[in-house]
Amino acid sequence: MRFLAVTVSLGAALLVMATAPSYAAGGDAIFKKSCTGCHYTDGPAKEKTIADQLAKKGPELWYAGSKFQKAWLAAWLRDPKPIRTYKYNSLTEKNKGDHPKSSAGDAAALTDYLMGLTSPEVKAGLIKAGTTPQAKQIFGKKMPCTGCHEYPTAGEVHGGHSGPTLVGASKRLNPDWVYAYLANIKVFKPVRDMPDFANVLGPKELESVAAYIATFE
Ligand code: HEC
Ligand code: HEC
Repeated sequence: MRFLAVTVSLGAALLVMATAPSYAAGGDAIFKKSCTGCHYTDGPAKEKTIADQLAKKGPELWYAGSKFQKAWLAAWLRDPKPIRTYKYNSLTEKNKGDHPKSSAGDAAALTDYLMGLTSPEVKAGLIKAGTTPQAKQIFGKKMPCTGCHEYPTAGEVHGGHSGPTLVGASKRLNPDWVYAYLANIKVFKPVRDMPDFANVLGPKELESVAAYIATFE
């Protein structure tokens, strides 16, 4: 009797596997095989230590679906270009731009998988791209953002290199994630290389900065 029940449930499980969309399941499997060595996909950050973070060569991806724009992610996985001018987790080594490249099929499956990983901290539809004098003032003068981040201005690239480049942020990052990250950085990252600005700037100021970054070509 018990044997029969096991056989029946096994059969049912196989049926589910056979009928489930192979795309999303494929992305999960490809990620486990080729990516988990350098990226973790379980969060939130408060369950991680700095040692966990440093054990992986690449940034955590547990909120990838909230952070990235889908089209950017699919294209980048096929043709990855350096984002952090200095290699991740290190400020001494230059980024060689040698991130593994995915085939078109793998990139599509991986994108579907990663876009499904979201954080409830990111509220959708809050930030609309736009430049205000207040945001320019905060980003460029009042706060030290440009000392650590590359940004575009009048067709040229300026700024520092210790943080990820913000050039192309209009296509790469979800503005709602940028706001959530600036407002509540600890939810996302155990490592505190990027200063916490939530105590220095008010929510309206952070919103304006996120909207400004969302215009960066
Ligand atoms: C040998 C280690 C390594 C492997 C393997 C690896 N990555 Fe990465 N990944 C990195 C590093 C380092 C970065 C940071 C690159 C940069 O900032 O220029 C990165 C960045 C990324 C980013 C951008 C993250 C961000 O916050 O900017 C994504 C998305 C990504 N990897 C996905 C993948 C996927 C999908 C795979 C598997 C096909 C993979 N990676 C395999 C090391 C790795
Ligand atoms: C002392 C250097 C430093 C300063 C100053 C700084 N940042 Fe950062 N920032 C970083 C680093 C380093 C990271 C990457 C953190 C990580 O992924 O571990 C980061 C990450 C970010 C990210 C996420 C980018 C990504 O692709 O993951 C945004 C957006 C950002 N900073 C915006 C700002 C803004 C806006 C300011 C000014 C109000 C600012 N930063 C000031 C160093 C800095």
